[in-house]
Amino acid sequence: MDQTPSTLNPAPALNLAERCQTRLSRSLQQLLRTSARTAEAHGTGVYAVGGFVRDVLLGVSNEDVDLTVEGDGVAFARHLAAAIDGTWKGPSAFGTAVVIARDGHKIDVATARRETYKHPAALPTVVPGSLRDDLFRRDFSINTLAFALNGPEAFRLIDWYGGSTDLAEGVIRVLHNRSFRDDPTRIFRAIRLEQRFGFVLHRHTLRLLQRAVEKRCIELLSGARLWRELRLMLEGESPVACLRRLDELQILPHIDAALVLSPAQLALLTGVTDARIGLAETHPEVIGRAWPLYLATLLYGMEADPIRRIGTRLALAPRAIQELLAGMAAVEAACQRLRLEVDLRPSAVVAALRTLPLELLPLLLALSPRGDVRQLIRSYLTAWRHVRPGLTGDDLKRLGVPQGPQIGRLLTCVLAAKLDGEAPTLEAEESLVRRAVTQGQDA
Ligand code: CTP
Repeated sequence: MDQTPSTLNPAPALNLAERCQTRLSRSLQQLLRTSARTAEAHGTGVYAVGGFVRDVLLGVSNEDVDLTVEGDGVAFARHLAAAIDGTWKGPSAFGTAVVIARDGHKIDVATARRETYKHPAALPTVVPGSLRDDLFRRDFSINTLAFALNGPEAFRLIDWYGGSTDLAEGVIRVLHNRSFRDDPTRIFRAIRLEQRFGFVLHRHTLRLLQRAVEKRCIELLSGARLWRELRLMLEGESPVACLRRLDELQILPHIDAALVLSPAQLALLTGVTDARIGLAETHPEVIGRAWPLYLATLLYGMEADPIRRIGTRLALAPRAIQELLAGMAAVEAACQRLRLEVDLRPSAVVAALRTLPLELLPLLLALSPRGDVRQLIRSYLTAWRHVRPGLTGDDLKRLGVPQGPQIGRLLTCVLAAKLDGEAPTLEAEESLVRRAVTQGQDA
């Protein structure tokens, strides 16, 4: 095969029971044992399936177990919840349930099912099926692996669709030609998995993906489904690689015509990642959510109208779109101030950065290549943002400042003076306030 070999090859001799024992948390192992006993007691077969099995084979940590039951999955979920003294939720429209252990651990349980799609991008119509049907309805061969938890074949790998070979060779392959058209979210899933594991799309799979894109299947996806996939990419381990690949495969314009990655945008995205990694080492407390940061970076430089349009296409709440626009405007304003003013005093830096959501700081850093500006941002993070006036509002009243907005304004002046070294002591702060009171002005 002409594929790049994966660096994540599963070991040839697979001992799944041993792998589960050494890689999974004790509480999850206990849950799996109880699942097996519960299945035995009720005469059903229960199987670990999908991404969990894939990750066990790859040696990647994953505690999100999906169980498939040949029989009544919801009844099994109920029995399992009773056996572990936990709770369960469900069933969903697809007959799935979630079992929640007392320690918070969750297991998804589904009835083995067959799926058909009435039209491209429709939600599937499901009917109960065999395990073989259930594995065949899945997106990629590497997600069709399974093993039984109970019965004589327990912990023996079930590999009906070539998943372990593709896993070993690092290949993403769909099971049939309609896969992307049935479910266009798989276009994004394919790219996310490819970038996450350093795999490659099989040639035929790539052609099918491109055909589905050309046939405008992405346009058929609801905003919520599209956003769910994009968000998973932006929150994952390699958001920039995913965006680059989406751009390379000309997928982004199918989300919105204005979404094209220029080399400058790509460089900015890379800069943001570097800045975020740097900040995570020095100031982990300011690292926030990844998706607002990467979405703001992706859209940076666009006018408000296309940003609103894209936000609406992705079914973001109006408030989330508003926050995005406000955050981007705060970055832009901070950037201008820090760039234009030559000799910035600490109080000016604090004023420039105060309204900036901290999770967008990596964007500001990536936009600010000048060493002196970066140093100011670092000083803000390390010291200036923590500075508070020594005096309180009550102190100001005691000094004769009347109740009202003047107190807030004066406290801001006191803080600025303290930051800039003009009021280094409590006495200096007090005399500044007294001066303001006698002069009848703020400071
Ligand atoms: N699946 C699918 N088509 C989709 C979504 C999911 O066939 N559009 C199947 C895959 O077999 C997948 C399983 O459902 O393994 C569970 O879905 P999910 O939990 O989203 O995927 P995981 O592989 O478990 O998780 P991830 O890929 O994020 O690691």
